[in-house]
Amino acid sequence: MTDFNKNIEIFDHPLIQHKITRLRDKSTGTAEFRKLINEIAMLMGYEALRDLELEDVEIETPIEKCLSPMIKGKKQAIVPILRAGLGMADGLLNLLPNAKVGHIGLYRDETTHKPCAYYNKLPSPIGKRIIIVTDPMLATGGSAIDAINLIKEHGGKKIKFMCIIAAPVGLKALSDAHPDIQIYVGHLDRELNKEAYICPGLGDAGDRIFGTK
Ligand code: PRP
Ligand code: URA
Repeated sequence: MTDFNKNIEIFDHPLIQHKITRLRDKSTGTAEFRKLINEIAMLMGYEALRDLELEDVEIETPIEKCLSPMIKGKKQAIVPILRAGLGMADGLLNLLPNAKVGHIGLYRDETTHKPCAYYNKLPSPIGKRIIIVTDPMLATGGSAIDAINLIKEHGGKKIKFMCIIAAPVGLKALSDAHPDIQIYVGHLDRELNKEAYICPGLGDAGDRIFGTK
């Protein structure tokens, strides 16, 4: 994992890079694409959740009683940005099965590339939770910025954003707009094209996860 800015972590793990290459390949079908998105989210989550708080609990092994650490409280929320962020939620729920799940519905207008909000439902009390926002693609950054604005308006404070592929312009925009959040990136790509798609990217993540076009 490489530190880019102090709040940005870009992954360089070979397993993640290998799986991202399979994701990018246009011959990868829906079933494998979904599986890969979940696996990458889980691998990234393993590292992104390194700072979860622990507390010692007393247990009894077959040999003796001892104090041993467990995750403190059940105060995590996973918040996928619909639709494509949903693809990453199960991967993180494998790690945090008791996490609550919120949803934020945003789609990018095809002409302006600006996000349009259509739904949100967040678990309460959101202010007390570690919130992991998921979206495989960070392109202009508009969707992630708006989603995190909304979470903050509802009282969210400790926020992590996890994406699989980012464009430099979107990563900078998100980090500038929300310098207080941690950002985890599977791979930093070259640029956006004039339709605001990430190059080389993987195409439309939502369409590839859900088999729509
Ligand atoms: C995609 C993607 C992000 C957004 C990224 O969603 O999943 O949410 O675009 O672009 P941005 O950084 O320029 O805002 P899309 O709007 O295609 O909706 P979908 O997930 O429902 O397909
Ligand atoms: N949304 C996607 O799904 N892919 C991109 O490359 C950009 C935005």
